Amino acid sequence: MSAPYAISKKPMGLPTRGKTAANRLRRVDNFILLYEPSLLTRTTDSFRDAFFVDLGYGFDARTTLESAARFRRINPTLPILGVEIDKERVEAALPHADEITHFRVGGFNLPLRAGESVRLVRAFNVLRQYEEKDFAPAYETLARHVLPGGLMIEGTSNPYGSLWVANLVRKTLESDSSSWKMEALVFSTNFRMGFDIADFQAVLPKNHIHHVVKGEAIYDFFEAWKSSVAETSSTKTFGLRQWFAASVENLAAKGYKIDLHKKWLMKGWLIWYGQEQVAGGERP
Ligand SMILES: C[S@@+](CC[C@H](N)C(=O)[O-])C[C@H]1O[C@@H](n2cnc3c(N)ncnc32)[C@H](O)[C@@H]1O
Repeated sequence: MSAPYAISKKPMGLPTRGKTAANRLRRVDNFILLYEPSLLTRTTDSFRDAFFVDLGYGFDARTTLESAARFRRINPTLPILGVEIDKERVEAALPHADEITHFRVGGFNLPLRAGESVRLVRAFNVLRQYEEKDFAPAYETLARHVLPGGLMIEGTSNPYGSLWVANLVRKTLESDSSSWKMEALVFSTNFRMGFDIADFQAVLPKNHIHHVVKGEAIYDFFEAWKSSVAETSSTKTFGLRQWFAASVENLAAKGYKIDLHKKWLMKGWLIWYGQEQVAGGERP
């Protein structure tokens, strides 16, 4: 599938702070490896040479290179493209480039060359520095570059990545469509900060962070989870993981569509499905 954008196109977006940290996005990668490893190993049809794109990797390319090592354990030839809007950050990363690891200046309109395509985009701690009005155009533009069935994980973490929340969006299967479908909102904690659901509110993605107010779905979600946490507090004696898991099971019993497999809950992941909102579209 050829990309409709030439590399000379002006990068869409704004240079922002480049703060990152070693292994900050390890849990994001581990999540993808557990959620859909086939997305990384797929070599059929147009997926054969399709990139994993790390958008906005920061002042150096450590998170991109760490992901390369992690993902190439299951696909040693996975093509990877680190994209930065800051030219100097790309220049600094270039010594790490090789035949399957690329670094290019670009923005939400990804710097793809003719014939190149994308299977997975990770955009972490990028949109948090934008205004909410920039969210929909950024998503719409990114969607144009991703193969039907491809995925984007876009979210915000705390400085060391022990806590994050991310949108998981799927490129719709109609090949001529440029829209995402919201698949899930994913909450992640490794419990180093304890377990207080209020902590998640500070790292909500841009489309939610200003909406934790009465009348909004994300507000209702937190209110329901808060009462589930209180109702299951007796499980705390067995440890924070058990408490987290019990609170999420209790929340699901209130009608929220959540994946209750232990492999997610015991590792501190809450996957909330059934987000009807189409990314980039109107809020419901
Ligand atoms: C805070 S850093 C995040 C680094 C890394 N992803 C992490 O989570 O640790 C954000 C980076 O995104 C870059 N950036 C901002 N807008 C961008 C865009 N539209 N396209 C590409 N990079 C962008 C900034 O230049 C900055 O280096």
